[in-house]
Amino acid sequence: MREFIYYSRIAPTAGNMIREDLQASGRIDIAVHAVIASFFLSHKFRTDVKLHLVFAGPPDPQKHLELMPVIEGKTGIDKIYLSKKNVSGVIKRMLYKYKPGIKNEVFPGYWIEKKGFLELVKELHEQGRKLFILDSDGEDLRKAELPADPIFILGDHRGLPPKEFKRLKQLCTPVSIGKRTYFASHTLAVVNNEIDRREDGLMTTQHPN
Ligand SMILES: C[S@@+](CC[C@H](N)C(=O)[O-])C[C@H]1O[C@@H](n2cnc3c(N)ncnc32)[C@H](O)[C@@H]1O
Repeated sequence: MREFIYYSRIAPTAGNMIREDLQASGRIDIAVHAVIASFFLSHKFRTDVKLHLVFAGPPDPQKHLELMPVIEGKTGIDKIYLSKKNVSGVIKRMLYKYKPGIKNEVFPGYWIEKKGFLELVKELHEQGRKLFILDSDGEDLRKAELPADPIFILGDHRGLPPKEFKRLKQLCTPVSIGKRTYFASHTLAVVNNEIDRREDGLMTTQHPN
């Protein structure tokens, strides 16, 4: 099991703010790409991934959307249909179905609640989970020791805000996928690949230079 937390400072916190232009809708396009990179393999859906989206944009921050989609059973009853084409629609419906005071399971394996980013991270840390911040200055992911159920935190197009980043560094280990700055979704795909390789017994060759 692996988990990702994607934090967006500007992603909207109400369904009616997600319009056709996803970029102009608080960069929901990035969250959509993060969902795709988290769960979709070619002709296969990952069932060992949980994705947390934390949106801190207007009008009612912060919202925690948790996704671990159920894929067995009858569509419309036991599960919903999730394809690469309808991710923004699913996020929009989750936001519409937010209910104050509860963690609402909107569809099987999709929850929404009001919760802040640092509160979520602290909660997971207190549960004894090992958290990693994805940061280009961190330890090389390829050399990092990972537990069986790691959690990785990613920032939006502007990165993680300095105040939150400072606090995170006290609770999490920074890990890097290289010196260049990648899209959040690409970073997520690389992390998924690194864990896949380890699970599949493919160790990375260490070159002298
Ligand atoms: C588009 S990047 C953010 C760019 C932003 N200007 C910055 O410098 O942080 C989005 C997220 O991807 C992750 N990321 C990008 N490149 C990375 C790298 N080389 N190693 C680890 N994480 C990376 C970070 O979590 C980052 O917050």
